[in-house]
Amino acid sequence: MNTNLSINGKTYTINAQEDMPLLWAIRDIVGLTGTKFGCGVSQCGACSVLLDGKLTKSCSVPVSYALDKQVFTIEGSSKNLEILRQTWSEINVPQCGYCQSGQLIAATALLDTVANPTDQDIDKAMSNNICRCGTFTRIRKAIHEAVALKNKTDE
Ligand code: FES
Ligand code: FES
Repeated sequence: MNTNLSINGKTYTINAQEDMPLLWAIRDIVGLTGTKFGCGVSQCGACSVLLDGKLTKSCSVPVSYALDKQVFTIEGSSKNLEILRQTWSEINVPQCGYCQSGQLIAATALLDTVANPTDQDIDKAMSNNICRCGTFTRIRKAIHEAVALKNKTDE
């Protein structure tokens, strides 16, 4: 089918089967390869995107589910994502880097909904994003730093 997909504020006309996983459409048809394929079965979070602001594993929803929604990927930009990118870089969070776009999207979803998350809030929000390299401690630190930076710039 020919259809429109809205990603990061831009409309893409794509030709895809409606049951194609959204991740396939984002990566293979649109060509935005920042969103990663990990497990393909909703377990690792590497494919995380926001759909109308809601954290979603794009490997496990069909493209038809996203047609009337705004898709936000790691190639997008928002205030929270930019602050998180900054603290991710300052703290040197990534190791191999493979999981990190999904981690940043999950962290963005958290800060979009919880202004001052506790360690427990962070652990819960990030619990569906697996990092084989074990960067969880630095991820938590970078999220706290992002909140501190945001609160400082909001003063
Ligand atoms: S690739 Fe989607 S959750 Fe692992
Ligand atoms: S940084 Fe390597 S899997 Fe997370």
